[in-house]
Amino acid sequence: MKKVAIIFGGISTEHDISCKSAENVIKALDGRYELVLIGITREGEWLHYAGDVADVTGAWETHDVTPVALVPGCGRTPGGLFSLRDGRLERLDVDVALPVMHGQGGEDGTLQGTLETCGVPYVGCGVLASAVCMDKDASHRLAAAAGVRSPKCEVLYRGASEAEGQAAVEACGGFPVFVKPARGGSSIGVSKASDQASFREALDAAFALDPKVAVEEAIVGDEVGCAVVGDATHGVRMGEVDRIVVSGGGFFRIHLEKNPGQNTELRCPSDLPADVLARVREVGERVYLALGCEGFARVDLFVTPEGEVVFNEVNSTPGLTCYSRFPQMMRVAGHELGDVLEELIEAKLA
Ligand SMILES: Nc1ncnc2c1ncn2[C@@H]1O[C@H](COP(=O)(O)OP(=O)(O)O)[C@@H](O)[C@H]1O
Ligand SMILES: [Mg+2]
Repeated sequence: MKKVAIIFGGISTEHDISCKSAENVIKALDGRYELVLIGITREGEWLHYAGDVADVTGAWETHDVTPVALVPGCGRTPGGLFSLRDGRLERLDVDVALPVMHGQGGEDGTLQGTLETCGVPYVGCGVLASAVCMDKDASHRLAAAAGVRSPKCEVLYRGASEAEGQAAVEACGGFPVFVKPARGGSSIGVSKASDQASFREALDAAFALDPKVAVEEAIVGDEVGCAVVGDATHGVRMGEVDRIVVSGGGFFRIHLEKNPGQNTELRCPSDLPADVLARVREVGERVYLALGCEGFARVDLFVTPEGEVVFNEVNSTPGLTCYSRFPQMMRVAGHELGDVLEELIEAKLA
């Protein structure tokens, strides 16, 4: 049986969500591969975890773990992933890695670059696409170059003056605006600001997580997503488009909700008219390819009341929890998550 390393956890604000995604991925791949679980702690320590899968969302790092060493190299001096036991390196012999990491240090290209340096093949977006998708400012610029509209967006850096903040709001068309860490995820640190006071609070929340903050025009309309797999060489295909319906006037914060299903409905199929749906799919594919995505990703878009499709962001490692959008969009289109991942893993093994 081939060995697949599932890499989870990590130093980002989305550590817990990554663990939940990993638990679901492990279940989906159960029996198909020998899984080597590699957890990264919040402090950034890499550990080979050989304990019970049920604890991947719990205290996994406190038992059944061995430090992992990454060794660069390939060809005649092969590198790879090793466990470190009594001062000796033991090769983990993984055939391919599947990073199930969200946010900085996992989804932003740094992990991908590390794996490449160590000669470990991996599933998912490469270094450039991962880095571009992580950064809301960079991804909007590339989407614009591909002819796709994004919300008006102004970047502020930590230490920006009140006047610069004011100018950013005005450039976005005035309040309300969305304020977010430029390189965040799972709605952590994202706020909608409707006046000066809430704008100041929103900036503090976003700057606490990232020295680069995006201030965006608030788009009125439906929020939809495309689950995409493939790449420019082999072509892409898509799951069923979904639509987020949030009750109570808020915005999408499913991972921050106590009960994820209570005020957020993930409607899939989306019930959009066929012509709008066709445009959503077309824009989703165009953005995926323009940003250089491969493997899989989720492209998030808005549809305005006039039917215009506006780009929000690409998640190069979308949430894969049991209540996440990507697995549902694939399932509704007839593809179980385990089958989708197996196909991507097999493509890397070929
Ligand atoms: N410009 C915007 N207009 C309207 N809603 C937005 C805008 N930006 C973000 N949102 C809302 O906030 C949520 C989180 O923002 P998003 O940019 O997707 O950040 P994250 O990377 O944390 O998921 C979105 O799913 C959407 O509901
Ligand atoms: Mg999002």
